[in-house]
Amino acid sequence: MSFDTPVVIGNWKMNGLRAEAEALVTSLLEKRRRVPGGTFGVCPPATAISDVADLIGDVDVMLGAQDCSPEEAGAFTGDISAPMVADAGCQMVIIGHSERRHGHGESSELVARKVQAAHRHGLIAIICIGETEAEWEAGETLAVLDRQIEESLPDGVSPANTIIAYEPVWAIGTGRTPTIDDIARTHAHIGERLTGRIPHGAEIRLLYGGSVKGKNAPEILAAAGVDGALVGGASLDAAEFWSIFEAGHVST
Ligand code: PGA
Repeated sequence: MSFDTPVVIGNWKMNGLRAEAEALVTSLLEKRRRVPGGTFGVCPPATAISDVADLIGDVDVMLGAQDCSPEEAGAFTGDISAPMVADAGCQMVIIGHSERRHGHGESSELVARKVQAAHRHGLIAIICIGETEAEWEAGETLAVLDRQIEESLPDGVSPANTIIAYEPVWAIGTGRTPTIDDIARTHAHIGERLTGRIPHGAEIRLLYGGSVKGKNAPEILAAAGVDGALVGGASLDAAEFWSIFEAGHVST
């Protein structure tokens, strides 16, 4: 699988009762039917995935989960396995989001095992990496990202089965973003690291995430090395989320 740019994916987080999910997706589908090209996707909460899958049908909208277990099945209360994610109709899964790494104490080693599980079941892993505010202020961003890339990416990662999302933790849900130059510099660094570590690593799609809105999307999506965006809050509003995707279309 290859991803046409822009790659714009919505992470709904813990938002969206089934009726809300239906309304949001119905509105997005209407727009998507009229505008082909690029890669456009949504990651609803687990409880809405099947409903959303039914609504999407054969429209060109990718569907993802927000996490998966490294295990296949068994006594893991509350967890959802990669085969369950695939069975529910998803083609992709977000892994290692900072709200999992920091909110649930998930290590890069665990992230790598989850990515392996996703790949075993044909799912595209959207692996999130990013520094905290303290690390940013201490000038440790690139070292943190190097370590996360080293430890979170298992063997078998390829441009077809993996997307990387660079999400500075301090930019998520805060309305703050790095400068465009900083984003471009950081993406260039990540690209170099991936090239050194993975066959065809330069072809892995690199998304920026963290307070992407309709307003800043044209600039961010036009930045060097940015193939798209992982969008949280703004993906809950159909018109705004769509405007982010269209901004990427214009800049490619
Ligand atoms: P945000 O979240 O767009 O609300 O900052 C991004 C993310 O967490 O993926």
